[in-house]
Amino acid sequence: KKTWQIAVIAGDGIGPEVLREGIKVLDTAARLDGSFELQFHDFPWGCEYYAKHGKMMDEDGMEQLRKFDAIYLGAVGYPGVPDHISLWDLLLRIRKGFEQYVNIRPIKLLRGAPCPLAGVPREAVDMLFIRENSEGEYAGAGEWLFRGKPEEVVLQTGVFSRKGTERIIRYAFATARELGKSLTSISKGNALNYSMVFWDEVFAEVAKEYPDVPTHSYLVDAASMFMIKEPQRFEVVVTSNLFGDILTDLGAAIAGGLGLAAGANINPERTYPSMFEPIHGSAPDIAGKGIANPLAAIWSASQMLEFFGYKHLAELVLQGIEETLVEHEVLTPDMGGTSATAEVGDEVAGKIIRLFQQSGHIV
Ligand code: NAD
Ligand code: IPM
Ligand code: MN
Repeated sequence: KKTWQIAVIAGDGIGPEVLREGIKVLDTAARLDGSFELQFHDFPWGCEYYAKHGKMMDEDGMEQLRKFDAIYLGAVGYPGVPDHISLWDLLLRIRKGFEQYVNIRPIKLLRGAPCPLAGVPREAVDMLFIRENSEGEYAGAGEWLFRGKPEEVVLQTGVFSRKGTERIIRYAFATARELGKSLTSISKGNALNYSMVFWDEVFAEVAKEYPDVPTHSYLVDAASMFMIKEPQRFEVVVTSNLFGDILTDLGAAIAGGLGLAAGANINPERTYPSMFEPIHGSAPDIAGKGIANPLAAIWSASQMLEFFGYKHLAELVLQGIEETLVEHEVLTPDMGGTSATAEVGDEVAGKIIRLFQQSGHIV
């Protein structure tokens, strides 16, 4: 029987609260299917670990993680540890170190999910963001000159390599072709006269290899306006690391909220493990109250099942999420409900058992 090894980094704040429910759903899906097993290994890394050990993860942490089939991550970052330390020593280190250069973030308004847009049909919000996840504005390069002096200057360098830019754009084209959808590039060549001019050039070059894929190109400021006014313009979207970060929180806001927004950090070559995580953070304002919405973490779990090749199970989980939203009986406060995190996890797990039975399987 195939066994998948999953490293669990629950992390900080609501991270452990939402991952518990994601694991519940993953276990349920695996049990129903019966053809494979999931083994979870907990890693206690995060800001509490930092407080005790002065570091976010073990010295040989990356080697420890390397042998896993996937990483399931909750959230990293909590007041008490400077964000640039906690994130660079754990989350960003993994994304970069394991060459998870593709960040897939679906912005899809499920039935029953709240949407603040007036006069926009549900079907209009259905985009697949493909965010560059390894370089760009997140290269970590820069300089701090004349610190504290009147002539102080700080440089934060965006790094856009030929290899890094081509591979993300090519991945996006291949995805759009596979889905039979258009591809939109979001950039900012009018002001960022090196990085985004280069990005646009590479996009035009790679487009020649995919003449069958319809393309669009937007400046990021206009794109953020159109995402609100006419979201139907966007299907598959490719964009840089920072723009993708910002636009997917915006996207989350129009697709049900951060509590519902999922992401996968993929190393397409499968040389290293890929990582699945909700796109929200540790939410210190609601941590420890048991009211965090686990649906984003559960949706990320569905992405993991798809990555392992169990598309039918991935869809089953998504259907379970959607039914839970439509019924509107067991939801957390951010979705207008009064239920606890664990109750929502139980509800989705129960739903997928019933959906599985209805599809003709005996459990
Ligand atoms: P956040 O995403 O943690 O929270 C923003 C708002 O959304 C808060 O009001 C929060 O309560 C709400 N929210 C988020 N997830 C929710 C959920 N599942 N259910 C209900 N409400 C939810 O962003 P922030 O407050 O800017 O950041 C907090 C910390 O998390 C910072 O240290 C930040 O660096 C870090 N962070 C980590 C990740 C990650 O690990 N992937 C992502 C974003 C932010
Ligand atoms: C995200 C987060 C991270 C990012 C932070 C925590 C470094 O906001 O996953 O969206 O900017 O990529
Ligand atoms: Mn973000």
